[in-house]
Amino acid sequence: MSLALTGLCRYPIVQAPMAGGASRPELVAAVGEAGGIGFLAAGYKTADGMYNEVKQVRRTTGRSFGVNLFMPQPLVADPSAVEVYRHQLAGEATWYGTPLGDPDADGDDGYEAKVAILLEDPVPVVSFTFGCPSREVLDAFAAAGTLTVVTVTSPQEARNAQWAGAGALCVQGTEAGGHQSTHRDDPQAGLTGTGLLSLVAEVRACVDLPVIAAGGLMLGSQITAVLAAGADAAQLGTAFLPCPESGAHPLHKQALTNPLFVTTTLTRAFSGRPARGLVNRFVREHGPYAPAAYPQVHQLTSGLRTAAAQAGDAQGMALWAGQGHRMARELPAGELVGLLAAEMEAARAAVSVRSAP
Ligand SMILES: Cc1cc2nc3c(=O)[nH]c(=O)nc-3n(C[C@H](O)[C@H](O)[C@H](O)COP(=O)(O)O)c2cc1C
Repeated sequence: MSLALTGLCRYPIVQAPMAGGASRPELVAAVGEAGGIGFLAAGYKTADGMYNEVKQVRRTTGRSFGVNLFMPQPLVADPSAVEVYRHQLAGEATWYGTPLGDPDADGDDGYEAKVAILLEDPVPVVSFTFGCPSREVLDAFAAAGTLTVVTVTSPQEARNAQWAGAGALCVQGTEAGGHQSTHRDDPQAGLTGTGLLSLVAEVRACVDLPVIAAGGLMLGSQITAVLAAGADAAQLGTAFLPCPESGAHPLHKQALTNPLFVTTTLTRAFSGRPARGLVNRFVREHGPYAPAAYPQVHQLTSGLRTAAAQAGDAQGMALWAGQGHRMARELPAGELVGLLAAEMEAARAAVSVRSAP
């Protein structure tokens, strides 16, 4: 494993930050205790809420962990497109008996306040999604002894992150569950992306930073494959969703392996930014015309998502999942880390036997 990650964890296994409740402190602590490294998700939380979780992890384990921050988003959405989408969602509001949210509510995720807390009381690793922090912020974290990780989805974003002073990269392939971390959401670009193995190779060819590979990885053999492709570690989200320590909604956990949900897609239907989730009724109906408008669409649909969950209706929930979801295993997080590590070892041995002269 690369120098930057050595000493932080025994295995090159990273539990992804998962905003919305899944990556709660119990999960992060259990992964750390088992020899991986877990991330808290600060997205959608107040700065105090984030800090309480940091303190909770520290009370539970002495192992290293990380915190993930959403980068602030420029307000570029076309208000008339948001208004049209509001009308298109009117039937959902009636169906679930809840009003649509205010798209113009303050969408500030508290980035500045969160950065200030994490500089005042540093944690081992801080990662960023939806953009790249300024050199000043990255340098301040480095001076505080915190490893910074910038999530990228293209070689250009990787070059920018290296230039800005990132300590490491999380390279996110299109297979990944949840939001694509694209630094600028281009409405014209379409809902596509580059597969992980190609992206890791492309980034390796142009950037000299430790790489954590993310997207669709569910088995130890797949982790071995991305390490062979040039990554230093692997970040898994969907694989950890069904763990008892994960705070994902029970219906979300069940849906991952429910034969009703056969496939995933990238959609703007719930948040206005491309995110990969299981294809359900809401995604099928609203995905085709949902506008590029984050966080306005996230705010519009917030009450609908809560109401669908309360009604036990998985067809109206945001069921974020990566392409490997059907390989999800419901195991305690520590056991899952141990199993992944054993599978990695077995895969390495199998490859050396097959490639022996
Ligand atoms: C439910 C869910 C929530 C996520 N939330 C975040 C987040 O808050 N910040 C972030 O950087 N990535 C987030 N991600 C993306 C992960 O960091 C990672 O890229 C992804 O889980 C990897 O793909 P996989 O789910 O197929 O393992 C989320 C993923 C999921 C499944």
